[in-house]
Amino acid sequence: MRSLILLVALSICSASTNKRNIVTIQSSLDDIYTDPGSCHGYTNVIEDYREAMYNFTIETYKQVAPRGTYQFVMSPLSMWMTLAAMAEGANHYTQNYLFDLLHIPRNQCIRQKYYELAASRFSLTADATVVSKRALVIDEGVTTNPVWHNFVTKHRLLDVLTAPLKYNPGAAASTIRQVVSANFPRLDLRGNSVLIDTMDYNGLWNTAFADAVVKRAPFYSIEGRHIGAVDLMTVKRHGKIGYMPAIQAKILELPIGMNKQYSIIIALVVGNIDIRPIINQMKGSILAEGIRSLKETRVPIHIALPQFKINSELDAKIILEDLGITSLWTDPEATRYISSPPALPSSYVQRATLTLNKHGVHPPPITELRSFGPPTAPEDLFFSEFIADRPFMFGLFDTETHTCLMSTMYSQPTYPI
Ligand SMILES: *[C@@H]1O[C@H](CO)[C@@H](O)[C@H](O)[C@H]1NC(C)=O
Repeated sequence: MRSLILLVALSICSASTNKRNIVTIQSSLDDIYTDPGSCHGYTNVIEDYREAMYNFTIETYKQVAPRGTYQFVMSPLSMWMTLAAMAEGANHYTQNYLFDLLHIPRNQCIRQKYYELAASRFSLTADATVVSKRALVIDEGVTTNPVWHNFVTKHRLLDVLTAPLKYNPGAAASTIRQVVSANFPRLDLRGNSVLIDTMDYNGLWNTAFADAVVKRAPFYSIEGRHIGAVDLMTVKRHGKIGYMPAIQAKILELPIGMNKQYSIIIALVVGNIDIRPIINQMKGSILAEGIRSLKETRVPIHIALPQFKINSELDAKIILEDLGITSLWTDPEATRYISSPPALPSSYVQRATLTLNKHGVHPPPITELRSFGPPTAPEDLFFSEFIADRPFMFGLFDTETHTCLMSTMYSQPTYPI
């Protein structure tokens, strides 16, 4: 009996200390979480959301591309959501910095609309799986601020997980790696938390590539040097094709899934130009313009794409540091409304995996494609072919908001010589 009373007393005691913490934290977050009231006037934010996402996509792409072999896949969407969650609980200085980087408006109604749009881009159906996990993993001794925690959970921005980071870092690291199926060689657990996010894509094209013609074919560098071979899948079909004059690239959109709910948009630089300055010149507006230029072709397009699976593990912390985000990892003030003691993530790593194969919902066209005779105009000729046998950039987009879920570059052939 006595021990029971003691237990009750203890739990009351800890509840009240907890409450004290909550009260101070809560009042500090008051200006962030004031009830926005009715958000009815904000129904049409898609355009602005899309522009914000394009900008963030391109800014991160430019950071990531030059760090390796120009072969990578990353998820700007997953990173955006993870950072938005951290921004929601960050102190004024860090929050401003993050909102600027993410192009998130300060208006709370608009922000919440953006979060709704972002969190509803995923799919787990037989024809298209696009899944993302995002988590702040905190040490067992760290308590999150429930106001922040509820907000980020409610908006499906971020999960909070607990692991014995300090007590048993080895076990914690292997659990984290297991949960997100990643090696994360640079997982630094010296802080009291880590940020992790993942995205996986595996889908069926709306129209399959032709089974018979996946064949080993040469792959070239930008300079036209033969650098290896790929398994090229080919098909002849009508599709949407366009041109981005600013980077001299042909672009092609290929729909994915039963209802074409996603698409892959590929940019193939034509002409022997160095891709590095081209990536450097990229802007969100160039991407938007390119996508607007997509038009259904008059003649069927001869399309050839390598079949591959690409997996990247990205040290997002380094990328973000180069974009000016430093307080989040080092300044206890920055995250003191997120948890107690303040979360100081010592790592932020992202894993993304994307698989391109030939399978589709519908079989490839076998009947005569509707055609207006052989291409005669030079323009028709130019747009009648899309052979990705040299480095190309591409993204996975959702059709409703046309924002980028995964951004990718392919430059290293499956069978190098
Ligand atoms: C996106 O970037 C362009 C410059 O490329 C800028 O003019 C525009 O304001 C940015 N949009 C947002 C939403 O930040």
